[in-house]
Parts: sequence; structure tokens; C-alpha cells
Amino acid sequence: MTVTKPPRAGGVQHAEFGGLDIAWDTRVLQPRSWTAEQGEWAAQLTGSSPSGPLLELCCGAGQIGLLSARASGRALVQVDLDPVAAAYARRNAAVAGIPADVRCGAMTEVLRPDELFPVIVADPPWLPTAGVAAFPDDPLTAVDGGVDGCDLIRSCIDVAVSHLSPGGHLVLQVGDLKQLVEVEGHLSRLSVDLTVLEVRDRQPRGVLVHLGPWSSIPVSNETGP
Ligand SMILES: C[S@@+](CC[C@H](N)C(=O)[O-])C[C@H]1O[C@@H](n2cnc3c(N)ncnc32)[C@H](O)[C@@H]1O
Repeated sequence: MTVTKPPRAGGVQHAEFGGLDIAWDTRVLQPRSWTAEQGEWAAQLTGSSPSGPLLELCCGAGQIGLLSARASGRALVQVDLDPVAAAYARRNAAVAGIPADVRCGAMTEVLRPDELFPVIVADPPWLPTAGVAAFPDDPLTAVDGGVDGCDLIRSCIDVAVSHLSPGGHLVLQVGDLKQLVEVEGHLSRLSVDLTVLEVRDRQPRGVLVHLGPWSSIPVSNETGP
């Protein structure tokens, strides 16, 4: 990804993200090129998923979900709390020619109870509150994940539990392996058919986690010792 205009407070900037023209400004999080892997991973998982649209939680300017939708051909629903981010997501989808249903609001409030998605991609704020001062250029709502950094990570899992189609997949971004332990703890407290299937550690940038049903884990025919 290259930023094609110099940073200018309040001005619209453009980033190339996997061939997409992504507009953003300093009121939203700057697109990070490494997160293209998250969008591509989600698209790959649609190959083994039931039919239906993709859901992107915490979409920001929308680039991760747009990459998934373009690669998979699936319809796309995107959610962000911040009206500025939602406006950029709508603009970026329109420019890409990808129909996206962008909803502005808290992820726990903008989905109908009966809506199900085979693949969900989620990039929540994950910095512990005590660490946000180190990133003064980033908007607080985009990075502050609460005391342990996991408030919005837990919300994404809760939303996935309610809105994943049976057999569906969640590709979740967290900050580090300590937060991965909290992901596993939250899943075990919820006692649901969702488990960590694969982890891609891309620290210091972040950690990508694939969650899916227990039935996705191949059962070995080997007998024990
Ligand atoms: C880490 S940023 C990710 C943005 C984008 N995916 C990216 O890579 O640039 C997290 C996003 O979550 C949004 N957000 C924070 N709390 C939220 C909530 N309760 N429901 C939905 N979105 C939320 C923020 O506005 C922000 O755009």
C-alpha cells in the first residue's frame, strides 16, 4: 500500500489497498497494509462456508471487508460506530463498485436478531487504555479497547456467537498472544461451538485468529498409546 497524498490534517488522503482506492482522513484509522492478509483469509474461508453475505465488524474506512467481498463475490454488510468511518466505507465501496450495506452504530445494536453470516471479519480496537497515549495520531474510538484491551474483542465474539451461520467462521484481529488467551477464556466461559482453529502471529503489528466450529477439527483415527 502506498499513500499517494501527503498527510494533511483534515484533508482527504488516498491509499492503495490490494488494488482498491481507499479514501480516509485523520479522523479515522489510517489503513494498514498488513491487514490485507485478514481480508484475503476471510475470502478464502468463504470457499468452505454456507451461502450468504460477509459481515465486517469495526470496518473503519472499509478496506478489509471490501477486499474480502471483491475476492469472494459475496455480498457485504459493514458496521462501524463512527459516522465519519461509515461515510468513508460507503464512499470506498461505491468507488470500488462493490455493493455494501454500511451500518453506522454499535455492533451490538445494528444487526437484526435473525441475520446470519457465514464469515465474519472483525478488527476491533485492542490497545489497553493505558497504552493509547503512545499513539496520539490515532482516534481514541479506533484504538481504545478498555483496561485489558479486550472489551471490543469480547463484543466481536459475542456478536459472532449470535450471528454466525452454523458452520461459519470468524477472522478476528487481536493485539498479542496475551489477548489470544483471553479470547480462549471468553469462549470457554460462553460454552459455545466456536474454537480457535488457527493463529497467524504478525506482531508487533497484530495477531490474526481464525475461529470456527469444533467440528472443523479433523479427528484422528489413530488409537492412543
Ligand atoms: C482498529 S479500528 C479498525 C478500522 C479498520 N478496520 C482499519 O483497519 O482501518 C476499529 C474501528 O472500530 C470502530 N468501533 C469502535 N467501537 C465500536 C463498536 N462498539 N461497534 C462498532 N464499531 C466500533 C471504530 O470506530 C474504528 O473504526
